[in-house]
Amino acid sequence: MKILGISCGTKNGNNDAICKEVLMAAAEQGAEVSFINVWDLNIQHCTGCTACVMSLMSGKGGKCVIKDDFDWLRDKIFEADGLIWAVPIFEKGAAGIFRTITDRFGPRNDVGMNIIGTQIAEQIPGGVAPDQRLMKPRVASFIGVGGSDWSTRIQCDFLNLALTPMFKVIETEVFSWSKCIVMEDEKIARAHEIGVNLAKAAGDIENASYVGDPGICPHCHCRNFFLADDATQAICCACGLVGEIKVIDGKLRFSFDPGTEHHAHDTLSGKFIHCDDIKENEGKLMELKKTDEFKARKAKYNEFITGMKPER
Ligand SMILES: Cc1cc2nc3c(=O)[nH]c(=O)nc-3n(C[C@H](O)[C@H](O)[C@H](O)COP(=O)(O)O)c2cc1C
Repeated sequence: MKILGISCGTKNGNNDAICKEVLMAAAEQGAEVSFINVWDLNIQHCTGCTACVMSLMSGKGGKCVIKDDFDWLRDKIFEADGLIWAVPIFEKGAAGIFRTITDRFGPRNDVGMNIIGTQIAEQIPGGVAPDQRLMKPRVASFIGVGGSDWSTRIQCDFLNLALTPMFKVIETEVFSWSKCIVMEDEKIARAHEIGVNLAKAAGDIENASYVGDPGICPHCHCRNFFLADDATQAICCACGLVGEIKVIDGKLRFSFDPGTEHHAHDTLSGKFIHCDDIKENEGKLMELKKTDEFKARKAKYNEFITGMKPER
């Protein structure tokens, strides 16, 4: 069983240390462990060109046009059964590099889209199926490390990275006020426990389940919600389920109609609903693009003003 630690913190900083504590615990449980600090890699932002999705949906394998180390990182992730991510908290959420990796894990690495991409490739002569290792189930735990108590968005960021590749989330932990984490025995012990739990989960992925903070959303354990305009409905920011937040026995509770659970963004059924929605809208756009009205409206904006660039 292989466990990969990925730190997004400064080299040999708090995130590296806490990530390695988790790996030490996993190694004690018999795991083969390895470690990456993302600053050793060249990871570029997703530009939104959608070439990968076009490639995936036309039976060409879903290649990304950016030439950097992302696919190397993805390979290492594909080789692992379990992942531990250690991520600095920046402006209350995950550091930008983690968000960039989340974007790069976007539609191109969505399990639902890849299942459809595989079917399309099988129907086309000479079609190229996407990398099937994505579909292999793997477990993941996440730790956020902050220098204060500004930490209210990071857990949701963690769940959003896990969403497209359908990592089975085992725990999401947040360590606030943690600039000297190597001196804090309680947090080190907690990281060790996360390592033990992750190794156990990676050893039995089929039966592994979430063991962390119960959170507020009973489906995905998220604590972040979007409160809709009419003030009666709340939407879970991670899984997208729509329901009500009520105070029950003095505690905030979120509930949704169980009949809607198949819409949850982290389920295969929810992904297929999302794929259908996108297909419909992309189809509309492709048709509109052919019209003179669309071309004229676009031209108005393209011709109005061009962007500035610094002189190099
Ligand atoms: C740009 C920036 C923004 C930060 N924002 C927050 C924040 O909102 N909340 C918080 O608790 N810590 C914040 N911090 C502190 C970092 O979380 C902390 O420096 C980091 O986890 C240290 O990890 P490292 O030693 O592994 O680099 C911020 C630090 C930087 C550089």
